[in-house]
Amino acid sequence: MKVKVAEDVYWVGAVDWNVRNFHGFTYSTHRGTTYNAYLIVDDKIALVDSVYGPFAGEMIERIGEIVEPEKIDYVIANHVETDHSGAIAEVLKYAPKAKVVGTARCKQGLLKHYFGDWDFQVVKTGDEINLGRKSLRFMEAPMLHWPDSMFTYIEKDALLLPNDAFGQHLATSKRFDDEVNENIIMEEATKYYANILWPFSSLIIKKIEEIQKQNLKINTIAPSHGIIWRSNPMKIVEAYLRWAKGDAKKKVLVVYDSMWGSTEKMAKAIIEGIRSEDVEAMLFRLPVSDRGDVIKELLEARGLLMGSSTINNSILPTVAPFLEELRGLKPRGKIAAAFGSYGWGGGALKTIEETLKQAGMELASPGLAVNWVPNKEEIQKCFEFGKEFARKI
Ligand code: FEO
Repeated sequence: MKVKVAEDVYWVGAVDWNVRNFHGFTYSTHRGTTYNAYLIVDDKIALVDSVYGPFAGEMIERIGEIVEPEKIDYVIANHVETDHSGAIAEVLKYAPKAKVVGTARCKQGLLKHYFGDWDFQVVKTGDEINLGRKSLRFMEAPMLHWPDSMFTYIEKDALLLPNDAFGQHLATSKRFDDEVNENIIMEEATKYYANILWPFSSLIIKKIEEIQKQNLKINTIAPSHGIIWRSNPMKIVEAYLRWAKGDAKKKVLVVYDSMWGSTEKMAKAIIEGIRSEDVEAMLFRLPVSDRGDVIKELLEARGLLMGSSTINNSILPTVAPFLEELRGLKPRGKIAAAFGSYGWGGGALKTIEETLKQAGMELASPGLAVNWVPNKEEIQKCFEFGKEFARKI
């Protein structure tokens, strides 16, 4: 069945129902994903983006339902990453006269990925390719989320094709925002922003302002993953602005791991302290929580309390991947503090605090350490620690 996005614009991507990990094993895709590619049929024919390599046949079959693939004149590569470029070499076998179009960085990246002797047209912001009745206008979007990234805009349809920006990892038989439960879409969009785009927040604000200044009319935003925003495309743009500016709720995450239960007792008493101030709190024990899901929750939380027992003068190895991820994501506008139990020497709090600072988080108070098992007074201290932290939210 043909999926029409606008007049003579079709979705020709693929649905990956079974993928459960992305970017290696760094991002859990509980709901699968889609690789969206779009075919524009005009006097000239353009394919905007392609799909992950194993899905090349599926995409070419979809294209074949609309036009003969050999008629494709342009393959627009908005982004080098293999989930969107993996099928280009296969497309070019069917469409040998097609020209590949992308930024200078894209050309560099694609040639280093696929070693193809492709006819390549380099474009930059403001360049256009006229297809007949429609034109493709290009807008470089460096670091959203790779240096090569680019948006394509079709003025006639007020259609923005921003590749990874505004996407969600969500496999569904439906293609549009008005056909899928809105809460599910926003949950996946939040996770996507937190885990992929968060470090580039200042660039996102600039890019959205740049588009706003041009007064571009946008009726539809068709990203390269998940559903297409057609009923209310500004909903996701406004959410991106909120996230990029660091807007947060009165919410605290308590994230920890515990060796023999003492740090866990501390975490539970801290949660009670936070609750006593009527601030929302969420507790995650790391080895049994999905890291990507915790990061999603952190996006809209104002505070993080990070706990670990001490082992070998430092944190538990189960806590390290989460802290390392925070260091890379650089969550903005968050306050944080550390806690944990120790037997002798200590050291976990120091490691946690150093990493939180490297991640750009503000330490709201000195950490709370408890020797061996917390007694009644120390449990009360944990409660007060949570309460004091909640007051700073
Ligand atoms: Fe969906 Fe940056 O690839």
